[in-house]
Amino acid sequence: IKDWIFKAQKPVDAIFNQEISSRVDDFASALINASKNKGFLPNLILHGPGGTGKTMIAKQIAKKSGMSYVAMSGGNLAQYIKRGEHVSELNKLMESAKKKKTILFIDEAESLTEDRNLMNTPERLDLINAFLNHTGEESKNLSIILATNRIARIDEAVMSRMDYKIEITLPGYPERAEILSAYIAKRFSKEEIETHFTEKTINRIAYDTEGFTGRALSKMINAISNKIASTEKNELTTALINETVSEFIAQEKRYGKAKGHKSFIAHLFFSIF
Ligand SMILES: Nc1ncnc2c1ncn2[C@@H]1O[C@H](COP(=O)(O)OP(=O)(O)OP(=O)(O)O)[C@@H](O)[C@H]1O
Ligand SMILES: [Mg+2]
Repeated sequence: IKDWIFKAQKPVDAIFNQEISSRVDDFASALINASKNKGFLPNLILHGPGGTGKTMIAKQIAKKSGMSYVAMSGGNLAQYIKRGEHVSELNKLMESAKKKKTILFIDEAESLTEDRNLMNTPERLDLINAFLNHTGEESKNLSIILATNRIARIDEAVMSRMDYKIEITLPGYPERAEILSAYIAKRFSKEEIETHFTEKTINRIAYDTEGFTGRALSKMINAISNKIASTEKNELTTALINETVSEFIAQEKRYGKAKGHKSFIAHLFFSIF
């Protein structure tokens, strides 16, 4: 408990299982060494459900490597298509990124690099081809980190340029307990934690929240903290914790299903039109 309180001042680090952590570390070391030895920089693609920490990883690697960090969303770039500026915008971005050691993080990569067989409007093809041109030659300055929750939609040629491919899965039971502890330490006082968030309680919540993402867990802890002010005595109670956790579990069950259904329809819609 004391450790958590000590950590409370710092932002929460992304927490993953051993396998994911070591693969992320492998990429980070490869990048840092290549950069130091003036070699070609490796590229990485992160895939997995939303809210599992992909953006956090990209930022942490950038920080660790000391390289500049440029982030963009594939969805944003695709918007330039309307104005016919998508290729020039991508070129501009790539050129400036190549001038000094830079990590270019592209979120929602599927909307930029959508499989040529799946979505082949001429504009989309131009965009992929521009991307492939820039990444065709290995670079000593530019490392690209792509993130997507639709790995099947990433163009094959784009995939082949990604030296490291890491799947970011939902946190397991031990990771959920660790994530909960980290956010609890951030939001609650030492007294509150000693009284209401014992190790046993945290383990129980972790056990009950199977299927939660890191994002859902952090939102749940925030919700508990935000609700304190609405209680009569303005203090944390075990009842408040249990109530909020139950609400989130119910919500996650409903929303989880609804979301799966919706995205399936959206997928169909996309494939047909
Ligand atoms: N593994 C984790 N450890 C700690 N916190 C996490 C973790 N995963 C997610 N979070 C919390 O959820 C927030 C969202 O995470 P992040 O944006 O990195 O997810 P993402 O995988 O990039 O999601 P998306 O696909 O929706 O962009 C983080 O800011 C953090 O608060
Ligand atoms: Mg993200």
